[in-house]
Amino acid sequence: MVDDLAARFEHTVASEARIEPRDWMPDGYRRTLIRQIAQHAHSEIIGMQPEGNWISRAPSLRRKAILLAKVQDEAGHGLYLYAATETLGADRGELTEKLIDGKQKYSSIFNYPTLTFADMGVIGWLVDGAAICNQVPLCRTSYGPYARAMIRICKEESFHQRQGYELLMTMMRGTQAQRDMVQDAVDRWWWPSLMMFGPPDEESSNTEQSMAWRIKRNTNDELRQKYVDMSMPQAAKLGVTFPDPELKWNPERGHHDFGQPDWEEFWQVVGGHGPCNSQRVAHRRKAHEDGAWVREAAAAHAAKARRSQEG
Ligand code: ACO
Repeated sequence: MVDDLAARFEHTVASEARIEPRDWMPDGYRRTLIRQIAQHAHSEIIGMQPEGNWISRAPSLRRKAILLAKVQDEAGHGLYLYAATETLGADRGELTEKLIDGKQKYSSIFNYPTLTFADMGVIGWLVDGAAICNQVPLCRTSYGPYARAMIRICKEESFHQRQGYELLMTMMRGTQAQRDMVQDAVDRWWWPSLMMFGPPDEESSNTEQSMAWRIKRNTNDELRQKYVDMSMPQAAKLGVTFPDPELKWNPERGHHDFGQPDWEEFWQVVGGHGPCNSQRVAHRRKAHEDGAWVREAAAAHAAKARRSQEG
């Protein structure tokens, strides 16, 4: 029986159809999805903090409205993704507990500080650009609810990237001080953006199995290369440079060559020792504790509605 189910699962994956919540799936497939989707959801939620930090200090009403909308979108992404983990039997409350207890990861990128308003533009351009590069292939991931969530999320991420690039274009048309501010932000965010794709393939413990299950559709290094190639012409148009002396076009490969990020720094940040890790988690913990009364009220309301429907 299990053999039949396993064969059907393998066939569904191999034929590019989707696995749906009620389908049989190997335990490891379920565990891997919960791990990846939960980390992704946590990243969206923690990712609200570095930009939320600038909402009250945006330089104009227009920029404030854009930033507010973007940060709200990230909250929405987190919610779709937590809902996707629930279709696999996970409990959203437990996942949040694991996040604030440091037992589950979120993207390394959100542990860096946002020092100037130019960082808002660079996060939109480079960080959301990396997110799109990583997430567009996930629209074809083998698990249906995750793939469908990704389609909507990618559409919104495209808007986020464009608003960032437009903000930077505006600053680059401004004063020398503004141009310097943009270059400084690019210098600080370039390497952490490359780290978003995960460790090099030979150090990536999950890639091989996740590719076999078609959860991941590309390796970390493939996507990192694609990202570098797509970012270079955008940087040239903007008039900024990336802080990598090894970065240059290689006509034989048909790709850019580039240097390696500091992988020791990456593992430090992933292990909880980046510049803002403790601040980010403490803030999330406080928000969760402060929101306890809302969850209690919602649960009481739902119970009351259920009783009146039954009675
Ligand atoms: N930040 C934090 N942890 C990371 C990162 C990163 N940038 N990259 C890899 N890791 C972790 C992995 O989660 C894994 O840890 P675990 O096995 O304890 O769970 C470990 O490092 C080894 O990495 P991989 O084996 O390469 O992990 P995986 O196959 O899951 O690939 C990747 C990592 C590419 C991030 C993948 O999980 C993915 O595509 N996730 C969906 C996208 C996502 O989460 N984006 C979040 C940021 S974008 C945004 O929110 C705007």
